Amino acid sequence: MENLSTELQNQATKILKQCFPDEDISSCLPADITPSTQDKFGHYQCNSAMKLGKILKTNPRNVALQILEKWEGLKDGMIDSFEIAGPGFINITLTDTFLSKELTAVIADERLGVPPLKEKKKIIVEFSSPNVAKELHVGHLRSTVIGDALARLFEFLGHDVLRLNHIGDWGTQFGMLITYLKEQHAGVLSNDEKADLPSLMNWYRESKKCFDADPEFKKRAQLQVVELQSGEPAALAAWEKICEISRLGFQEIYDFLDVKLVERGESFYNPKLSQVIKDYEAKGLIEVSDGAKCVFLEGFTAKDDKPLPMILQKSDGGYNYATTDAAAVHHRVTEEKADRIIYVVDAGQQLHFQMVFQGAAKAGYYDPAKVQLEHVAFGVVLGPDGKKFKTRSGETEKLIDLLQKAVDYAKKILQERLEDATPKEIEELAHTLGVDAVKYADLSCHRVKDYVFSYDRMLKFEGNTAAFLLYAYVRIQGIKRKVSKDVEAVVLTAPIVLKHPTEVALGLHLRRFGETLELMDRDLLPNRLSDYLYELAEKFHAFFRDCRVEGVPEENSRLVLCELTARILKTGLNILGLKTMPRM
Ligand code: ARG
Repeated sequence: MENLSTELQNQATKILKQCFPDEDISSCLPADITPSTQDKFGHYQCNSAMKLGKILKTNPRNVALQILEKWEGLKDGMIDSFEIAGPGFINITLTDTFLSKELTAVIADERLGVPPLKEKKKIIVEFSSPNVAKELHVGHLRSTVIGDALARLFEFLGHDVLRLNHIGDWGTQFGMLITYLKEQHAGVLSNDEKADLPSLMNWYRESKKCFDADPEFKKRAQLQVVELQSGEPAALAAWEKICEISRLGFQEIYDFLDVKLVERGESFYNPKLSQVIKDYEAKGLIEVSDGAKCVFLEGFTAKDDKPLPMILQKSDGGYNYATTDAAAVHHRVTEEKADRIIYVVDAGQQLHFQMVFQGAAKAGYYDPAKVQLEHVAFGVVLGPDGKKFKTRSGETEKLIDLLQKAVDYAKKILQERLEDATPKEIEELAHTLGVDAVKYADLSCHRVKDYVFSYDRMLKFEGNTAAFLLYAYVRIQGIKRKVSKDVEAVVLTAPIVLKHPTEVALGLHLRRFGETLELMDRDLLPNRLSDYLYELAEKFHAFFRDCRVEGVPEENSRLVLCELTARILKTGLNILGLKTMPRM
């Protein structure tokens, strides 16, 4: 099915051409139609008269009148009425019978009204990307949750998606850590001493202290880097051990969140880094500054107005973070054949990505007209004090403990609500509710803004929370049980008839699922979808308040409306990475 705004757009475009055959109105085509957010202003809005007014140098209201003169005759059972609002907006209200027919088609459609894919793309979503043995912070949690939601959206739409975890698994810091482990915890490297990610993080911190305080240690650490880089077996084995311990820690979190990722860390690109320098040199992009090989790009200056370098090779021959990213662009475009590459990384790295992208384009690593590279930035997580969120001052609090705490909160709430549930049932439900709450709290905020992490707020049953949406779903399951009919059979036979105003409002909203996914795809903002689902739950509650389902002549139609609401809720929540619950 097409989106309704697309259908209206096609209709309006034809009419504009008929109205102004002798004028050059190409800049106003296709007609501008948007779903209106406030239902009291009609259901769709056409903004073309406003634009045409400027071009034709006439009052937009007059243009609107001219358009409607033609359009009135072509309403075709689809449009109920027009209204000219404000300086010249045209508000469009659809007929209830048209909407009813559309909804009957939506529920028969396995894509729930989401238009078929026009062009299948290979999309790489790079997200999570924590650093081995280094602090795993809530920023990585944000990247994981947002990246997963975007990947799920593309998968639902039908694209070919590759989910990459660009783990920070290479760098000079390994020299310190390996040296420290060899000297203080050799048992870890020989598998005689157990270690996990938090202990690694501790030792990393300790090794840094030694590195800064003890010149002899520093020398030994630097030597270790050289050995690692030259592939000396013992150094390599130690590095692998450190990666393995970290990997287990990361996987624990991914399993907890039910997020799938393909690991392809920075070390993967090591063999390709010298070629990057050669390629950039061949394009005349490299300038040597203080012994380092740098790229200077237009428009990038430091605070003192001096040109800002992107350093690709340090004076000691070592490569940089940006070099790896350049190699990754090349690999993803030429080997993976990506059409679109999305980097879900905190907003603090914006400058880095701008330089990497611009440099790679200049080096001919990708053609910006053909491949889309996007840094999907996000804001910081704040604590209740409004400052950057920190785990307990013990510092080694695992990210997983933070998630577990949300589950524990959820457990308390569910134990009170569901007195008859078995402990095992509570356990499972609490896991879903806790994880859903954390994910939704993140996704429902505008991605680019900072947000405050609060267990109390994320687990509320009112307002724009996971629980509120999940509860709407649970409620519909209850209605279906009460009516005790074969819902599948009713869905196949009963047409949807919309009568009551809140019923019409719900129906219209249900028809906009496809438009919503289109918006999320365009802006890469998960809150486009969460806002939609929140509104859906609200509209459902209003409908349920006003319209009886069970035992009325409209029972079948309303049952189908309930079922469609449940299906869209579930599908939408799944795209955000949330699971529904059978009861709560
Ligand atoms: N490991 C990095 C960090 O924790 C994030 C990696 C981002 N991705 C990239 N291609 N540079 O800050």
